[in-house]
This record gives sequence, structure tokens and C-alpha cells, in this order.
Amino acid sequence: MSNEHWSHGFYRLTPEQRRQILAEHYQLSQADQEYLANHATALGNDLVENYITDYSLPEGVVTGLVVNGKNYTLPLVVEEPSVIAAANNGAQRIAKSGGFYAEEPSRALVGQVVIDHVQDPAAKVAWLKNQEAKLIEIANAAHPSMAKRGGGAKQVRIRQVGRFISVDLLIDVCQAMGANTVNTMAEAVAHYLSENGNNVVTAILSNYATDSLQTVTCKVDYPALATKQMDGELVAKRIADLSDLAQVDPYRAATHNKGIMNGIDAAVIASGNDWRAIESGAHAFASRDGHYRGLSTWQVTNSQLEGKMTLPMPVGVVGGSIGLNRLTKLNYRLSGIKSSQELAAVIVSLGLAQNLAAIRALATTGIQAGHMKLQYRSLAISVGAKQAEIDPLVEKLSQQSHVDQKIAKQLLATIRKGDSQ
Ligand code: HMG
Repeated sequence: MSNEHWSHGFYRLTPEQRRQILAEHYQLSQADQEYLANHATALGNDLVENYITDYSLPEGVVTGLVVNGKNYTLPLVVEEPSVIAAANNGAQRIAKSGGFYAEEPSRALVGQVVIDHVQDPAAKVAWLKNQEAKLIEIANAAHPSMAKRGGGAKQVRIRQVGRFISVDLLIDVCQAMGANTVNTMAEAVAHYLSENGNNVVTAILSNYATDSLQTVTCKVDYPALATKQMDGELVAKRIADLSDLAQVDPYRAATHNKGIMNGIDAAVIASGNDWRAIESGAHAFASRDGHYRGLSTWQVTNSQLEGKMTLPMPVGVVGGSIGLNRLTKLNYRLSGIKSSQELAAVIVSLGLAQNLAAIRALATTGIQAGHMKLQYRSLAISVGAKQAEIDPLVEKLSQQSHVDQKIAKQLLATIRKGDSQ
């Protein structure tokens, strides 16, 4: 089915007109059309292009996340069962041993202006170094309000990368997310460099935010790690082994880091920040020495399990959609977070809590025991259980030694048979 006759200029239509065309073209039922219309919002249409409706995700909270002595309730937005349970589980175990210590973060974004076709790289680098004050002045003139707040472009770093020279502008964006500020400044500097005979390849923010690093640490007492079957010291040692494995094997490291990003993405979304930026920065940082590694490390020292993680966390508490989305604003009231530094500290701590819960599960019962129990509701819904059937089906599923879609369907059929008898 071609959509050629209506796809051009689709963005000029209203959301109602777009839904109407899609409904006709894809023969959507009346119920589907109503669903799309009922979930549409004016804000959604203001935020994205070709808007038709809002896609909603569940929001839950982590309670008792202790960072630098303060106890946080942190909203998380995620679709996967067991992520929020695990975050709570990790946070509570670490809180019992004093919580997280978050260092003062570094906080600058990088605007990258790259030039190419340089005849004499050494002479060009020398020329650029001479221009540093001028480049900072141009960048700040392009976005003067940032400098007025005490921020703005502060430093220029020049890097030779292959045949390119990257002029990195280090910019303090104060409490903002800052991507637009950085891009405006980088483009102004690019314009100046072009006017002075340089071939500019690109001017854009870099998501490899190595100048916005946040380090958090925690120490967990053995009793907080124990299970009914395994003492805390053994659990700690097995967690440290898993951590070592993630440092040497990229196959394991990718999964280890996925467990961390389960919590981080969920918290970043709830805070209204750009989670794609945080994801890309995190994975680039995981490969910083040329080998992809686990982002966190856990080791056994002085009868405790010690965890540590450093991550690029260039989040803001103003800008982007933060001030526009009512729920995002409400989330800041729940967390009580007031500054970008505080937000970075809490999000990285949450990532480490999430990681502890996941690898503690791997080191003890295995992931399926806890994770699958919480997946049962999704499984019940996926096999067609109605609201009143979900709890009884979950109950039956949790009594099984093995569970899959076929078994879930059979159990649902049994419940329905029972109901009709
Ligand atoms: P448990 O120890 O069986 O739970 O954990 P519990 O009933 O003993 O409760 C202990 C605490 O856990 C509770 O304390 C809660 O804080 C929390 P309490 O409030 O009772 O004083 N907790 C919950 N919080 C909210 N809702 C719940 C809930 N249940 C417990 N329903 C649990 C069960 C599933 C939490 C645990 O087994 C766990 O953390 N598993 C890891 C789950 C996980 O990571 N899921 C993500 C999907 S798997 C994945 O994507 C990542 C992975 O591949 C990463 C990797 O490989 O490294 C695993």
C-alpha cells in the first residue's frame, strides 16, 4: 500500500486530519480511532512533529535512596516489570549501610567545531591557540544570557583527531540541559572560523560528556546482602567476581551496563532530560580505554562490599521540555531535587543501586526467580487475561516450576472453565 499521495506535507495537517488519513489508509477500527484521539494532547502536538497521540509509560518511585545523607523518593518511568522493584531493593540494601557518597561533579558541556583540509596542522593549532580568547568571546556573544548567570564558554581545548582538528568549547550551562545553548555557540564559532579561511566540517554538542563526570561510591555490610541460603560474605564475593567479569568480557559488560541503564534511563526520562544523550555518553565512556567494560566496579574490602561508578551525567533541571510537562515538574516536587549537580548525584547513585540488585540476583537465586515473578502480570495480560482474571492467573503462574505463554493460556482456560461452572 503506497502512502505517496498523502505523505508529503503530512506535517502541515492538524493532528485530527493526520489521524483521519491514517484511519482510512490503515482501516483502523472506530475503537482504535477513539483511542488515538482520546490520548492526544495539545502539548504533545507542540513538542513533536507529525503528532497523532501521546504514548504513555508507567511511572513508579524508588523510596529510601540515600545520597550524601539525604533520603530521596525518586520517580522512574519504565515499561519493564521488576526494574523499579530492583531499584528499591538495591537502594534499601545500600541505605542500611549508610547510603551513597556522591563526589562534587565536574560540569561543562562540550561544543565541538571540527575543521579539515589543514595544510600545516602544527601552524593551525598554534593559530587556534592564539585565537582562544576571541573564540570564547564569540561564543558568549552568541548566547549572552548564560554568561550573565555566571556560566557561558569558559575554555577552548584543541585536539588533533586523524586528519581533523577539533576545537572543543567547554561551556558552563548553569542549571540547564543546555544543548541549544551549546549548539548556538558552536555555530557562531564555526561561522568565524569559516570566515577566516577554515573548512568547517561540523559544529555541534558532543554527547561524550567527559567534562560532566559524576562519581558515586557505597559500602555495603555483608548482612545486607545475605539470602536465606547464602551468607552475605559469599554473596559479596560472587558479586565481586561478576564485576571482574564485566571488566574483561564485553558480552557480559553490555548486559551489566544494561542493568545499570535500566534505572538511569528511567530516572532521566522522569526528570525530563534527554535519555538518548545519556545512553550514548555512557556507552562511549564504557569504552574509553579502547575496550568496552562494565561501568561500575564492586570489590570486597574490610568486610564490606564496595561499589563505585563514574558516569558522564550532563543533566539539567531547567530547559527542554522540563518546564512544559506537568508531570515532570511534579516529579521534581516528589524528589525535592533543586540543582543539576544534585540530580546527577542521585541518578548515578540510582544506577549503582539498580546494578547491585541485578547482580545480587545473578549471584544468588538467578534472575528468573524475582524477575519472572514480576513478569507474570505482563504475561497474564499478553495471553488475554481480563482485569478480574489477572490476580488469579498470577497466583497460578507463581505455583509453576516452569512458565511460558502456552502454560499461561492453559491456566487461563482453567480459570475461565472454573468461572463458568
Ligand atoms: P526479593 O529480595 O525477593 O524481594 O527481591 P523481597 O520480597 O525480599 O523484598 C526486599 C526489598 O526489595 C523490598 O523491601 C523492596 O525494597 C524491594 P521492603 O519494602 O519489603 O522492605 N522489592 C520491591 N519493591 C517494589 N515492588 C516490588 C518489590 N519486591 C521487592 N514488587 C526482586 C525481588 C525482583 C526485587 C529481586 O530479585 C531483584 O532485584 N532482581 C533483579 C531484577 C532486575 O534487575 N530486573 C531488571 C530486568 S533484568 C535486566 O534487564 C538486567 C540484568 O540482565 C542486568 C545484569 O545482568 O546485570 C539482570
